[in-house]
Amino acid sequence: MSVICVIGTGYVGLVTGTCLADMGNQVTCVDIVAEKIEKLKKGILPIYEPGLEEMVHRNYQAGRLHFTTSYSEGLAASDFIFIAVNTPTGNGQGGADMRYVESAARSIAEELDHYAIIINKSTVPVGSGDVVSRVIHNNLKRSDITFAVVSNPEFLREGSALLDFQQPDRIVLGSSDPEAAYTVARLYMPLRAPIVTTDLYTAEMIKYASNAFLATKISFINEIAQICERLGADVKEVAVGMGYDKRIGHAFLNAGLGYGGSCFPKDVRALAHMADEAGLHPQLLHAVMEINHDQRRLVISKLTSILGSLRGTTIGVLGLAFKPNTDDMREAPAVDIIRWITSQGAHVRVYDPVASETGREALVREGVRLDSVTFCENAYSVAEQTDALVIVTEWNEFKSLNMQHVRSLMHRPVLIDGRNIYDGSEMHRLGFIYRAMGRGTGPAPTILPAGDSTALPALQPTLDLNIGD
Ligand code: UDX
Repeated sequence: MSVICVIGTGYVGLVTGTCLADMGNQVTCVDIVAEKIEKLKKGILPIYEPGLEEMVHRNYQAGRLHFTTSYSEGLAASDFIFIAVNTPTGNGQGGADMRYVESAARSIAEELDHYAIIINKSTVPVGSGDVVSRVIHNNLKRSDITFAVVSNPEFLREGSALLDFQQPDRIVLGSSDPEAAYTVARLYMPLRAPIVTTDLYTAEMIKYASNAFLATKISFINEIAQICERLGADVKEVAVGMGYDKRIGHAFLNAGLGYGGSCFPKDVRALAHMADEAGLHPQLLHAVMEINHDQRRLVISKLTSILGSLRGTTIGVLGLAFKPNTDDMREAPAVDIIRWITSQGAHVRVYDPVASETGREALVREGVRLDSVTFCENAYSVAEQTDALVIVTEWNEFKSLNMQHVRSLMHRPVLIDGRNIYDGSEMHRLGFIYRAMGRGTGPAPTILPAGDSTALPALQPTLDLNIGD
């Protein structure tokens, strides 16, 4: 059993602290936001993550997991101190903001009275481990205290973070003090995962390179999707066919509205920024970001290619969160899409199984006028009297809707499947004018006259040649 302190009770900190406690360690989570700590003590979590609430309760009850706002309480007798504070995009050019990491390092230095290993889990620019060392060294209240810094990047996916912690593909540890890295490796030994030990800079780079590679895979398949659409191929099947090649694999080849969330957008931006600063020209990373941005725009061009002007129309949006099984709205495509739709004079009806509240806040932050948006209780209510329905997040409950009923509720049967979750020929059979991402246009003659869509008659089923019964 080790005594551990985790600084930061955000996504990474809370999952890390709770899972380490679940492995039998004594863990104290420190956060400077008193309200967060008070709520955690009552079992109220600041984030939604499947299974986490139960695990927090269980370990808190068992006396292995503690919450405090006090660094001195958290650090007391700790062998390991994890820094898990956030590193948002800071300056205008995409660099990471190190303020929270530096302030955590300063607070650790001010309270540290024994040897400890400081483990950085926050995603920091390559070379930041040295900054953490320097800040701690310069602020130590006792000059006889020694410490080591280890970089231990996290690879947790929202929605499956507990599993990712407990069954990681690999654990990366970087340090200029190999003994310290081995000591941290022993802490992780019960997980029986491959452990890569390396230097600080390399460990920090592994994190950026991994996320940038996955983002590249997504932008790659999205570019292929656009080509497929023009040439009449189906990107979903192309991805399946490609994925059987072991060198390619099936994962992360889902074409759609592109990546969002707290990591990919920020990390690709930060890596490109580091490369730019180093005098390089990271063309691929810039293309990855551009493709990702354009992908969201496709919703608007698909809508206008069918409806003409969006002024006066009502558009249904299914899903707000940046991906299913989370209420996280950070860099969610839904925000841009709803902003663009409403700015063209359309009204939006929207539903998300868990992200309505966070979604509402995100839309307000981005300047979307809420009188142009109606939040609905379920997917069917969204569909009522809409001129088009757009699937933005691929929640499971959207995959098994009664689409015949959905269609009967709509003013015009236009379906934009931003996540390729439906069977195109089935949707055509049901009478939808169906557009997916990179899957051709299907057999129906679907280009409606351009111009003000309010002047268009509501689409009659007979307009679609593929209607069944
Ligand atoms: C990611 C990384 O996976 C994790 O290792 C890292 O440390 C944090 O960032 P997360 O942001 O939770 O995790 O989401 P992830 O499941 O990886 O998906 C990221 C984004 O890519 C989502 O917006 C998702 O919709 C999109 N995506 C993913 C695709 O568009 N297509 C795919 O095939 C896969």
